[in-house]
Amino acid sequence: MTVEHLNALPYVKACLLEALRLEPPAQMIAVTPMVDDGAPRRSRGVAVFGDDATEFRPERMTEEKVKKLPKHGFKPFGHTPRNCIGSDFAMQEATVAVVVLFQKFDFSLVDPGYELRYQTSLNRKPKDLKIFARLRPGVDVLSLHRDLFIPAAADSAKTDTTPSELGK
Ligand code: HEM
Repeated sequence: MTVEHLNALPYVKACLLEALRLEPPAQMIAVTPMVDDGAPRRSRGVAVFGDDATEFRPERMTEEKVKKLPKHGFKPFGHTPRNCIGSDFAMQEATVAVVVLFQKFDFSLVDPGYELRYQTSLNRKPKDLKIFARLRPGVDVLSLHRDLFIPAAADSAKTDTTPSELGK
């Protein structure tokens, strides 16, 4: 995966947004409504997302559809002016992570009957979720290492700058 792919993966982006909608990691935002107008504020709301609001359906989170969502209908990164300053970076990192993980591994639940439970903390996490990650056919430890680490190492060798050069 290279930087050119980041904006060329609309379905991965829709999957990430749908995951953020269903399971927003930040469970609290520091906002007090000045007027309670009864508008739906939860990103799982049936009023905004329809009767299948509790289902994982990335098709509803394509770029065009997200643009048409009602104001405040989807706020995984909080509320202006104090919304997340790292949202673009977070989406880029998540895209790279998802692509690389699914290119290289097949995942399965250790317990196929696992039912989602939550671990209480500031961020929302699944409790006792264990998965197997198996290298996909054609991927071995050496090719994994070569694909993930060697290009990065070569790049940083090319662009290595000393602290004094950075100051110039
Ligand atoms: C999926 C990943 C992330 C989610 C869901 C998330 C969510 C949020 C939310 C909901 C807020 C607002 C909190 C509030 O209203 O009190 C917030 C604020 C913030 N986030 Fe994130 N965030 C993520 C990743 C990141 C990353 C990667 C960075 C930095 C590189 C970052 C930096 C910040 C900062 C600095 C604020 C405070 C902004 C301010 O108060 O002006 N976040 N984030």
